[in-house]
Amino acid sequence: MPYGPEWRRQRKVYQSILNITAVTSYQPLQAAEAVLTLKQLSETPERYYDHIRRYSTAVILSSVFGIRGPQFEHPNIQRLYHVQDQFTAILETGATPPVDVFPILKFLPTFMAPWRKWALKIRAEQRQLYFELLENAKDRIERGVHRKCLMDELLQETQKEKHGLDDEHIAYIGGVLMEGGSDTTASTLLSFLLAMVKYPRVLKKAQEAVDKVCGTSRSPTFDDLKNLPYIKNCVNEVSMVRGVYDTYSGYHFPKGSIFVANTWAIQHNSECYDRPDEFIPERFEQNEYGYKKSLDIPDGLRTTYAFGAGRRICPGLHLAENSLLINVSKLVWAFNMVPGKDPETGRQLSSEDIRDSVETEWTNGFLTAPKPFPVRLNVRSAQHQQTIDRECSEGQELFKGYED
Ligand code: HEM
Repeated sequence: MPYGPEWRRQRKVYQSILNITAVTSYQPLQAAEAVLTLKQLSETPERYYDHIRRYSTAVILSSVFGIRGPQFEHPNIQRLYHVQDQFTAILETGATPPVDVFPILKFLPTFMAPWRKWALKIRAEQRQLYFELLENAKDRIERGVHRKCLMDELLQETQKEKHGLDDEHIAYIGGVLMEGGSDTTASTLLSFLLAMVKYPRVLKKAQEAVDKVCGTSRSPTFDDLKNLPYIKNCVNEVSMVRGVYDTYSGYHFPKGSIFVANTWAIQHNSECYDRPDEFIPERFEQNEYGYKKSLDIPDGLRTTYAFGAGRRICPGLHLAENSLLINVSKLVWAFNMVPGKDPETGRQLSSEDIRDSVETEWTNGFLTAPKPFPVRLNVRSAQHQQTIDRECSEGQELFKGYED
């Protein structure tokens, strides 16, 4: 959406419902879903990709619409991925001609622009899903069933008036939050798993840190995080938190120009970061930006550039950071993560064999994620398994608040 009054209106809504204080109330939900993910990973570890993707979508479904996605196969989860995968496909570089770069293409008749038909079909499916979710939330509220979720807040008359929202706005706000919040979080968590298989030194150090704080009779909680700085550094490292430049000296950019920041290149600048291609959480012990010790920290540098910067910075970053922190701490507490077998030869791989080059091992396109990789997840002990089972049963009580 271009910058303008409509964008500003939506932005205000995102900020009011996703600010750092507001998202604290979703922590119990995020913790319970993270424990359910541990349980699912302990039962069918080979399905790690689906379980992680389920987690991120389930948190969005509950926190935005007040509904659940308890398994990857659940229709609520499948429906969202169906729409999202098509949307991602059309946004992939080369999938359609560069209409934003050559606006004249917009004036071609439809028979010469087949991508327009494709885009309209995706838009129709998106709208159907967004409006169905909105109507379900309205029906539920009318039946007097209220849930702790963003839709229940936005559908209050006072909120609608305050932000000037009609159904169209609310349906799209819900839809955009859903699209913006699910695969992004999953992809970051999958990158973390890959890093743990590639860098056993880091996993061991992270496990020592959580073991000291939690032992085996409970998994880490949000309250523990203040005592787990190494986990925070791991999350910073996996988010590849490095700088973006807002302006480019000497060049004039016409109003409305579209900028795509090449954050990967900027974040991997070896003039600013020591060994930028390696997974080294310790770089954040030097300073909060992970910047080279010998350099002055430039004004306005942020730790977390993975979420963008400036006016358009990701409004879901606090919810996302909470998800990353709680999952990373629980995953390292629960599992030994070791390389699996080569899918083609059946040979047992070592961490040196694991490839993590972004050029070959990540999916292409608008939203990238590591391609499936050979990993074995083993619960660390029988006591860990007992704790996972017990905490998972305890979480069912909270889930009941989101079920019909
Ligand atoms: C690790 C997880 C996430 C990452 C890496 C991420 C990253 C980003 C980035 C890079 C942008 C574009 C910023 C720009 O244009 O400069 C963005 C936008 C956005 N994100 Fe996130 N995001 C994540 C999670 C979330 C979550 C959990 C939500 C919602 C609950 C969310 C909601 C949004 C929305 C609504 C926008 C559009 C904002 C606008 O146009 O003003 N994101 N995100």
